[in-house]
Amino acid sequence: MEKMDFNPLETKAKEIIVRYEEPRAAMLPLLWLAQETFGHISPEGEAWVGEKLGVTIAHVREVVSFYTMFQTKPLGKHHLQVCRSLPCLLQGANGVITQFKERLGIGLGETTLDGKVTLSAVECLCACEMAPMAQISEQYVGPLTPQTLQEVFHHLLEQPDTAFRPPEPDLHIAGGGPVLSRRFKHAEGAWFDAYAADGGYEAAKKALTSMTPAQVIDEVLKSNLRGLGGAGFPTGRKWSFIPKESSKPKFLVVNADEGEPGTFKDRYLLERDPHALIEGMIIAAYAIGSHKAYVYIRGEYVRPHRRFAKAVEEATRHGWLGKNIQGTGFDLEVVIHRGAGAYICGEETALLSSLEGGKGFPKLKPPFPAISGLFKCPTLINNVETLACVGPIIRQGAEWFSKLGTPKQGGTRLFSLCGHVARPGLYEAPVGVSLRELIYTHAGGIREGHRLKAVIPGGISAKVLTAEEIDVKMDFDSLLSAGTMAGSAGVIVMDETTCMVEALRAASHFFADESCGQCSPCREGTGWILKIIDRIRKGAGRPQDLENLLSIAGNMEGKTICVFADAAAWPVQSYITKFRGEFEHHVATGECDLKGPALALRGPGQA
Ligand SMILES: Cc1cc2nc3c(=O)[nH]c(=O)nc-3n(C[C@H](O)[C@H](O)[C@H](O)COP(=O)(O)O)c2cc1C
Ligand code: SF4
Repeated sequence: MEKMDFNPLETKAKEIIVRYEEPRAAMLPLLWLAQETFGHISPEGEAWVGEKLGVTIAHVREVVSFYTMFQTKPLGKHHLQVCRSLPCLLQGANGVITQFKERLGIGLGETTLDGKVTLSAVECLCACEMAPMAQISEQYVGPLTPQTLQEVFHHLLEQPDTAFRPPEPDLHIAGGGPVLSRRFKHAEGAWFDAYAADGGYEAAKKALTSMTPAQVIDEVLKSNLRGLGGAGFPTGRKWSFIPKESSKPKFLVVNADEGEPGTFKDRYLLERDPHALIEGMIIAAYAIGSHKAYVYIRGEYVRPHRRFAKAVEEATRHGWLGKNIQGTGFDLEVVIHRGAGAYICGEETALLSSLEGGKGFPKLKPPFPAISGLFKCPTLINNVETLACVGPIIRQGAEWFSKLGTPKQGGTRLFSLCGHVARPGLYEAPVGVSLRELIYTHAGGIREGHRLKAVIPGGISAKVLTAEEIDVKMDFDSLLSAGTMAGSAGVIVMDETTCMVEALRAASHFFADESCGQCSPCREGTGWILKIIDRIRKGAGRPQDLENLLSIAGNMEGKTICVFADAAAWPVQSYITKFRGEFEHHVATGECDLKGPALALRGPGQA
């Protein structure tokens, strides 16, 4: 085999390392560099990265093994990754995987004999509006209707040496909303001009030239903006926790690691309105006294990353980033950091561990990131959508923003709707909109000829609601009172064809796959849950299984480093409690009465 020559990568490696306060934080970008150059990360590649960063090969190897996107063996020319998470499953992902296996003549994890295609099944790619979907060599493809499948087969089997560039599907994406989606319909390439023409960067100018940091924080507090990454913590309060005086540098970290199945909002903000995020970042950084921002984007988001990076370049060129922004004396440097395939890195302390060059391990709190975060310095972490609300708040005022929402949560939200609705898509609505209105008015109701059975209102971790429970407002507090959560506002809708055992199996598979493994209740519990549900699903359920599932789930809650384990327990508890008869029927008879339509490919009645 030809020897790998790393010498041509030296200059690039040096450029990457100096972006970070500590060399080892350049771990993921250097691993990406090695993989992109040689197609995979070989032992020589691990040794080279270790040498550049001054860490052991064993450490590099541990990191490589943690992230699903790093490959230690060469793959086929095209890597075909089919999503098997619940939203895609509801739209026929199992059938898609079977067709790929049959047509390519290979199983999951295998490569065709000619070395052209490697086939894998992956957890959620956060493009649930395109379900069923796949990623082919970094390009998202969907919805995989019988017709698009033919195009994919044609390309992979008959023209494997050409680049595959499927058009972006014309889906149901909100536009013209009051806060977050107003510029979503703009064409690529017109961003900075379009943004500036729409009052863009006026808010940053106002903050930097006529407001003190304390006044900015106060305005955000009054707006009742709550963290839209999922936890709903009041944003202004979080900003106020960052020490005013600090001998250490302070950091702003943007969480763009969107990974919650059923959610795809941040992807649209990064792609279609990146300057709204940049403006929010400038204001946030000014408010807390930070001059360095890291944007952690999930590794699979290749196009969002590309478009956001282009916007950062534009903003820098127009004097909105870098040194002495618009002559105000305020500096802000932005580093974009690419993740590498690990859902847990969305949890803020795991994200920091990953950003520091390690495995994405959550850390015990306290200390909270506000006091000891990135490189042990004060750090503010906010979600993309949260920061995209900040410009409009400063420009149009806290009162305007808070009035759009409920008494305790201001503004609007981007609701991702997927599953069995007529129009899967992204919709902007006031945070107090009802779940019924979202499903029946915005998303066009349940697909034709079917009726609602169940809804997950806030991403796969949220407790499920029945068809009778949808007259609930979608703000954080109302959903909490209804026994579930608003989370990431990813709404997964299931009609009467859905088998709840199958749905819970998909959720449990996700959690078993994504647990970081640090805490035994989570590592062992998610594995046991999956094993028992698999048994029930295959018709070999035992009388004690349901009680055992509830007991395992109960023992996972509140006993671990992060709330991932709780999130894995909630679907088990809610599905079994609310659809107990269906689970009991499976256990007693070994049969499912709902075979067929749920596995059908997305039909002509749907977009
Ligand atoms: C398992 C887990 C996954 C998470 N994933 C994300 C994510 O993908 N994106 C995100 O912004 N927040 C995610 N969060 C929430 C973050 O920990 C954190 O609360 C958030 O980034 C803070 O930003 P916000 O206050 O603007 O919401 C996750 C939390 C947990 C426990
Ligand atoms: S709860 Fe699970 S994901 Fe969170 S730290 Fe423990 S093992 Fe890791």
